[in-house]
Amino acid sequence: MRIAIASDHAGLALKKEISEGLVALQHDLQDLGTYDNSSVDYPDFASQVARAVRDGQVELGVLVCGTGIGMSIVANKYRGVRAALCTTEFEARMSRAHNDANVLCMGERVIGPGLGRAIAEAFVSTAFEGGRHQKRVQKIADAEAENSRS
Ligand code: RB5
Repeated sequence: MRIAIASDHAGLALKKEISEGLVALQHDLQDLGTYDNSSVDYPDFASQVARAVRDGQVELGVLVCGTGIGMSIVANKYRGVRAALCTTEFEARMSRAHNDANVLCMGERVIGPGLGRAIAEAFVSTAFEGGRHQKRVQKIADAEAENSRS
């Protein structure tokens, strides 16, 4: 699967850990930064991954910052992006199965590296269930369209 990943400086170490796990699972991973510990602004990196998902360049995105909160706020501003902030494997699975989430957000200051890696692996290996959830996801798109008209 094509996956874009990015972090700010506060999520760099967890991004590296997650990347190792996703590459080991044979995913086609695009690392969109940041690449060192210099202080950067999380919206710049959330936007890059969100655009890649919105434009269909990748199927899924992963974003890491200190808490994951800033990344999720920014990513959810982009059309067609459904970003889920997850702290457990259960949330990650449910966000894919029920919400068809296409961007996973996590916080390096919230979860440990082992859990972060497990959450990411659960996220990318769970499929959307469709069925009764499809019309609910459509309603998310409807709300997005309504917002862009106003
Ligand atoms: C950076 O200090 C921190 O604010 C950022 O990584 C993130 O946690 C924001 O939501």
